[in-house]
Amino acid sequence: MTNRLQNQVAIITGAADGIGSAIARLFASEGAKVCVADVDVERGLALVEELKAAGQQAIFAETDIADEDSVNAMVQATCEQLGEPNILVNNAALTPMGKSVLDVSREQWQRNFAVNVDGMWHCCRAVLPMMKAAGGGSIINVGSVHSFKVVPDSFPYGVTKHAVIGLTRNLAVEFGPDNIRVNALCPGMVETPNAFKAWEQTEDPAAARKAIGDVHPLRRNASVEEIARPAVFLASSESSFMTGHSLVVDGGRSVLYHD
Ligand SMILES: NC(=O)c1ccc[n+]([C@@H]2O[C@H](COP(=O)([O-])OP(=O)(O)OC[C@H]3O[C@@H](n4cnc5c(N)ncnc54)[C@H](O)[C@@H]3O)[C@@H](O)[C@H]2O)c1
Repeated sequence: MTNRLQNQVAIITGAADGIGSAIARLFASEGAKVCVADVDVERGLALVEELKAAGQQAIFAETDIADEDSVNAMVQATCEQLGEPNILVNNAALTPMGKSVLDVSREQWQRNFAVNVDGMWHCCRAVLPMMKAAGGGSIINVGSVHSFKVVPDSFPYGVTKHAVIGLTRNLAVEFGPDNIRVNALCPGMVETPNAFKAWEQTEDPAAARKAIGDVHPLRRNASVEEIARPAVFLASSESSFMTGHSLVVDGGRSVLYHD
């Protein structure tokens, strides 16, 4: 399918790499004008060049979502260069693993919340008045399987991902009357370039990749495109009666019983 996002303006945070870049590519191919908002200037600019070379409309805005001024400047640049956003994908997050509760310093806790939760809130605060004035919009907050289940030694990532669901549901209720839909998209393990880098650091990268793939009933990890496609669904009118929902895209991981 093409043109499901024709004439839409979409901000995608963390779009320079991983899942966010796949969402940016697919949104642009579906006709959206895309703002790639990321701290990573080199990768962000390279993606925008790629999209423009394919005849698509995109801008890069260097953005640290933890900084509200930086977010406001990014939204202003989007309005000036692409138009007012009707779609926001809150995708950027820090994804540190291997930390147990007492290993985490106060600074690490605060930085994780500043990016993963405050960052989403800053972006929502900036776009909600525009969406309200325009008569609607769609916000997608990227959660995780960590939004519903606790994976040991993933602290405080899992706490921040639980908070994403609370934010999503609150905004959905408050802005439903304004025709602004707010949903969460919750992936299982996704094969991003950073995931491959992490596996390369193990003794047996193929075994490390297979081990995590095997925790999903589908016995594999997701590709980034398998997360981008449901993001298009949530952004477009195909999901027009869905709000406050958490769309779990995890190869069955969250329904598997462990004891
Ligand atoms: N990869 C997975 O297996 C997986 C699984 C479930 C959920 N998720 C979620 O999907 C989203 C994307 O994850 P990913 O694996 O693609 O991550 P990634 O680390 O590959 O990419 C994250 C991007 O966010 C950017 N970023 C980091 N901090 C930022 C900040 N302060 N401001 C703006 N941009 C910032 C990075 O530069 C990078 O481009 C995250 O919300 C993550 O929690 C990922």
